[in-house]
Amino acid sequence: MTLYVTTPIYYVNATPSIGNAYTTVAADVFIRHRRQRGEETFFLTGVDEHSTRVYRVAQEQGLEPYEYLEQIAVPWRELPERLNASVDFFIRTSDDGHKAFVREFLQRIYDNGDVYEDIYSGFYCVRCEAFYTEDELRDGKCPVHDIVPEWIEEKNYFFRLSAYQERLLEVYDARPDFVLPPNRYNEARSFIAGGLTDFSISRAGQPWGIPLPWDESQVAYVWADALINYLSALTYARPGEDLRERFWPEAHHFVGKDILRFHAVYWPAMLLSAGYELPQHVVAHGWLLFGDQKISKTNPLVQALNLTDTYGGDAIRYWCARAISFGGDGSTSLDSIGERYERELGNDLGNLLSRTTAMIAKYRGRVGEGETSPSIAAAIEGVRDSVPRLLDAWDVTGAIDRIWELVRELNRYVTEQRPWEIAKDDARADELDRVLHDLADGLRAAAVALSPYLPETAPRILAALGQSDDLAWANVAPGLTRPAEIEAAPPLFPRIELAPTAP
Ligand code: MSP
Repeated sequence: MTLYVTTPIYYVNATPSIGNAYTTVAADVFIRHRRQRGEETFFLTGVDEHSTRVYRVAQEQGLEPYEYLEQIAVPWRELPERLNASVDFFIRTSDDGHKAFVREFLQRIYDNGDVYEDIYSGFYCVRCEAFYTEDELRDGKCPVHDIVPEWIEEKNYFFRLSAYQERLLEVYDARPDFVLPPNRYNEARSFIAGGLTDFSISRAGQPWGIPLPWDESQVAYVWADALINYLSALTYARPGEDLRERFWPEAHHFVGKDILRFHAVYWPAMLLSAGYELPQHVVAHGWLLFGDQKISKTNPLVQALNLTDTYGGDAIRYWCARAISFGGDGSTSLDSIGERYERELGNDLGNLLSRTTAMIAKYRGRVGEGETSPSIAAAIEGVRDSVPRLLDAWDVTGAIDRIWELVRELNRYVTEQRPWEIAKDDARADELDRVLHDLADGLRAAAVALSPYLPETAPRILAALGQSDDLAWANVAPGLTRPAEIEAAPPLFPRIELAPTAP
């Protein structure tokens, strides 16, 4: 089984926001889990560099676009690393391999007779890099960014999207899970059923972008260039290897709901035209809202790298997974990052490990083998049985909620069993062995299950318990703890003293 997971490629007109981190985290949780289940995976992320805004920001800063891109690429490359995302390739649309592939791909569409020349006149939102009809605007403004779009009138090349309406509907009817969740499927399907308008795939008089192979006076429209990254990367990510053979069409595209139409309508039509099979799924998530505002890259408080500096990548991943229910929009706050860090990661998980290892070190010095008590075994089995099902249904939030129930159950077990009391009575030595073993076994299984969410922390838990670092899902089962010497572990999530902020 092979699995190919992608994030959108991000616009680099500013440094990454926590909103951009969100898509990367969700995709990485999903792919790490599937890797635990033995699948061969490939994870792609990267940056979208040919947008009009990039060109304008570079100009404002008095830089050539490529000079600007060299600078801005640094924090964007750091984003997946700092989020502990297991990326296999980081694509830049200025890569020679991408540029060559885009030209070849567009030429195929052209040769198939799906491209024609016409005058485009209409509205263009530079922030979306999207064309809008008057009807689609809200009070004359872009419905996503609430800014007045530019009026554009130029000779362009158009893609015959309208010719693909029937074929797209056939795909949607045959594959009800092509777009997820179902409300997004319905949204995309009704958009198609409502009639498709051809779209411009080029920009004239724009000096920034990939020149069209049949008319070098025009460049590819940034979306016609960007979407193709999902295929182009496979052709040059591993020199000498064509990864399309293994990973296409096994693609799962993770996207925000704002870019659904490009992925669920334009991209499949382009693929059909160029003679490619369609991806498996387009998984659309909602927005993190602070108050009722979508988080924007230009707000310094929500800079993803500042947040990973303060809390660490795992804490930000954990917060992304739990802050809002995956799929829908949700309102959250920056304060909730600190709250979850302290209460859930620090107390529920971190203290549990500190207490467990401290008690084992103090009373026994080692953990032994044995059967796990029925209540803890059942809690572990509950995770083993439910989490794969939840993640197969893309429920990134539901799955971590379920794993956290095991963590809470272990905390309850400590409180109920009171091992420090048992330890006072030599006659209860076997009982103490069993309770300590149960705690170690529960924590070990929880760590393996948590590893897609907390990839840096999970191995630390396993090491503190003297257990194997094998993260295979089969290890989420009771009674697999092996004998080990144990010392009291340092805190997993030490308290963070935040610099005071202005009121
Ligand atoms: N460059 C295009 C994508 C091209 S893919 C072929 C683009 N880039 S983006 O930088 O604007 O945004 C990329 C992703 O970030 C989207 O999935 C978007 O939904 C996500 N997010 C940005 N802010 C967000 C929130 N506040 N909440 C959740 N995700 C949001 O679009």
